[in-house]
Amino acid sequence: MKTLIRSGLLLLITLGAGPAVLAAGDVAKGKALYNICAACHGANAEGTAALNAPANAGQDPWYMIRQLKNFRAGIRGADPDDTFGAQMRPMAMMLSSDQDIADVVAYITSLDLPEPPQTVDGDVELGKQAYETCIPCHGEFGQGAQALDAPRLSNQHDWYIVRQLENFKAGIRGGHQNDIYGAQMRIMSQMLESDERVRAVAAYIATLEYRSVGE
Ligand code: HEC
Ligand code: HEC
Repeated sequence: MKTLIRSGLLLLITLGAGPAVLAAGDVAKGKALYNICAACHGANAEGTAALNAPANAGQDPWYMIRQLKNFRAGIRGADPDDTFGAQMRPMAMMLSSDQDIADVVAYITSLDLPEPPQTVDGDVELGKQAYETCIPCHGEFGQGAQALDAPRLSNQHDWYIVRQLENFKAGIRGGHQNDIYGAQMRIMSQMLESDERVRAVAAYIATLEYRSVGE
């Protein structure tokens, strides 16, 4: 398993994926576009629990670009039961060009790493066991792996992680026929059979310290 992760990381380093994506976005233009996002995600993209908006700072740019395109196209957030995705969809639709998306993501990527408070009451030991199945894709430290299309999970709000897992399980996220990456995660979410395991794994992820993808 370690070898798999390591070869994934080596691939990332070889491709130099991160900087190549960043080069495409204009941070100054992205800052202006981010004004609208700040209302929900916070001035530093640290996320706002009261508005159900996750942290975006610290997240991988390639993943945010994909989510924004998926929201815009209705591949994410269009399910009638996706209450919070429905709030985000019209915001993504305001980013009319792919260049706008690249710019706003470049700005978000320039912000400081958030450290969300732990709020989910879950069995961390049980969560650690449950997290073993997540490691091949999301990494030992929840650092994510672009080669496997799996985003960072560390430094994210635990209540948001719980909600996404519930949504994947219920097919509210990942159920659209064109959501090829969400479909993979939908299958994995079925392994967390009980609400207790969902809370446990989110509580464990909240204990993970930041590691960059290259570490
Ligand atoms: C009205 C409040 C609101 C505004 C304004 C808003 N968002 Fe969101 N955003 C949300 C909510 C709520 C979610 C979580 C949806 C869910 O639970 O699936 C979200 C999710 C996201 C995600 C997915 C995060 C992940 O980890 O998958 C990204 C990326 C994002 N927003 C970026 C933006 C950007 C960029 C803007 C500005 C153009 C913006 N948002 C404006 C409410 C908002
Ligand atoms: C086979 C690879 C794979 C495995 C194993 C896997 N995931 Fe995922 N996960 C993904 C992919 C791919 C996505 C991105 C889906 C998308 O683009 O919408 C994802 C997305 C997520 C998200 C949404 C993050 C966000 O910011 O919205 C959460 C939460 C998550 N996974 C948690 C887990 C947990 C917990 C486990 C273990 C029980 C797990 N994953 C196992 C591939 C995987």
